Amino acid sequence: MLKVDSLSVRYGAVQALDNVSLHVAAGETVALLGANGAGKTTLLRTLSGLVKPASGAMILGDAVLTVGAEARVRLGLVHVPERRRIFGGLTVEENLKVAASAWAGAAADLSGDLDKIYAFLPRLKERRAQLGWSMSGGEQQMLAIGRALMARPKVLLLDEPSLGLAPRIAQDVFDRVAEIARQGVTVLVVEQNTALALKVASRGYVLETGRIVTDGASTALLNDPKVREAYLGRA
Ligand SMILES: Nc1ncnc2c1ncn2[C@@H]1O[C@H](COP(=O)(O)OP(=O)(O)OP(=O)(O)O)[C@@H](O)[C@H]1O
Ligand SMILES: [Mg+2]
Repeated sequence: MLKVDSLSVRYGAVQALDNVSLHVAAGETVALLGANGAGKTTLLRTLSGLVKPASGAMILGDAVLTVGAEARVRLGLVHVPERRRIFGGLTVEENLKVAASAWAGAAADLSGDLDKIYAFLPRLKERRAQLGWSMSGGEQQMLAIGRALMARPKVLLLDEPSLGLAPRIAQDVFDRVAEIARQGVTVLVVEQNTALALKVASRGYVLETGRIVTDGASTALLNDPKVREAYLGRA
């Protein structure tokens, strides 16, 4: 469904990604792990068309991705950015409606999509008239996910959905991610909470200073002494 082939990205003198290759099969959930500065966000931003690669290719389904960011959303590649980036001055419902612009004209009836998202994320329904900035961190993450669903994703790119959340709330967020995947959406999730991500993902890749250093089934990664030492805080 999604393929990254020998992708390299540079920011001036900084080589943020160095020949990165990975793939995510249709319906699969894959985790991308790595420490601060490893290049995880850069990979997602390059996939969604916000950063231009120096070399390499990205393929969605049978399309080589050369189009711009908005066109990629219309193809079903939807990115939930790091730190959520919801619109603080808009209500919850306005945030959701704006996200439908990928496929809906100004006069489109969004009630069916909204009903589905409110049934899936009931807290958003309770809070639908509340302004974005006044939502808690966990609620903002749910809103960011709801907004991505409004864009009708085929592939969801999630950047650190558990960032800054209490463990129980982070678990709630990942439970919703697992449910989205069960409904057939392909998911690539970036996380520093390795244990949580590998519980939901079937496979994972580990990125270190721009290179994939390890990959494998989640169970194998969880038992890999190097992964345990570096990312799970115990050898
Ligand atoms: N716009 C930019 N200009 C210059 N350098 C950048 C830019 N964005 C990222 N970098 C650098 O590229 C490298 C990878 O950054 P990136 O944000 O992709 O890492 P990350 O794995 O997402 O880290 P974190 O876990 O802290 O979010 C870092 O060395 C970072 O300083
Ligand atoms: Mg990042």
